[in-house]
Amino acid sequence: MTPVFAKAYNPSEVHFMSDDCENRNEPRKVLMCTPEHFSIIDVKNIYMQGQKGNVNVDRANVQWDAIRNSYLALKNQKIIDDVLVIDGIEGMEDMVFIANQSFPWVMWNGEKIAIMSRMRHENRQNEIPYVEDFYKDHGYKIVELQSKYHFEGMGDMIAHPGKRLLYGGYGFRTDRAAYDEIARIVDAPIITLELISEHHYHLDTCFLPLNHSEVLIAPDAFTPESLNIIRRMFEGVYEIPEEEAIEGFACNAHMIYGQNKNSSAALVQRGNPVSLNILQQSAAQVLEIDTTEFIKSGGSVFCLKMMVY
Ligand code: ARG
Repeated sequence: MTPVFAKAYNPSEVHFMSDDCENRNEPRKVLMCTPEHFSIIDVKNIYMQGQKGNVNVDRANVQWDAIRNSYLALKNQKIIDDVLVIDGIEGMEDMVFIANQSFPWVMWNGEKIAIMSRMRHENRQNEIPYVEDFYKDHGYKIVELQSKYHFEGMGDMIAHPGKRLLYGGYGFRTDRAAYDEIARIVDAPIITLELISEHHYHLDTCFLPLNHSEVLIAPDAFTPESLNIIRRMFEGVYEIPEEEAIEGFACNAHMIYGQNKNSSAALVQRGNPVSLNILQQSAAQVLEIDTTEFIKSGGSVFCLKMMVY
């Protein structure tokens, strides 16, 4: 096996394959944050333009409840182990997007750590202590970044399924330089991917691994070098139509990785026929749900949950 060092790689420096990386168990618990204080009060991404004050709170609550109920049904079927919920905080309009404030990880020795994000927008940085409390209550060691660079958690850093290998998106919210420190903390390689389209300001809006060898992407999101390395790391790369990636937020689906297709499931915004078809090849159950109130703020299913250990 080629030795793979724990550092942040530019695409041109990657000389290994995912099989050269150590195996990893996927997290099996879902964490959500209640939506009662969700609203749009400013413009943090292109989707939020013209949406100030435009959230239908009742509808957002109904949509969020339906997602939680879908997860509870998957828990009943033992596809996931648990559904945990923390309370949204008054005045924290984006806290419901619980993928962003942190990145949980298990170290070689089994220790659970939570790397806390350094959010680009100050009003979102205020969410961090509340999320930190959750991790403290659940036996995690809290890790604060020492460098000053921005990092937006699982919104921008996504793991290769079943491997100690990460992909780090940068360009809008997270700084490339943050990944040097993070690679040392997680003791794993991070392949950095440059994002170039405003509609794909977080990696989770354009990059969704389906299993160890296939990935769903929005090709317009990436530089040619980043696209190249994605094509090298995955045997099957499915490019979805632009309208499904942008209006439909289809890459922001949530793929729950099981041992095989039968124990895998996915949740996706409804009305994305091409993506739905692709997801159905990898997961026996694909639940179509409605997240349109949250899409107004630039997020769908993937952003509304955090997978934790
Ligand atoms: N309004 C939120 C923001 O701009 C949306 C975050 C979406 N989260 C995500 N993981 N893509 O910060």
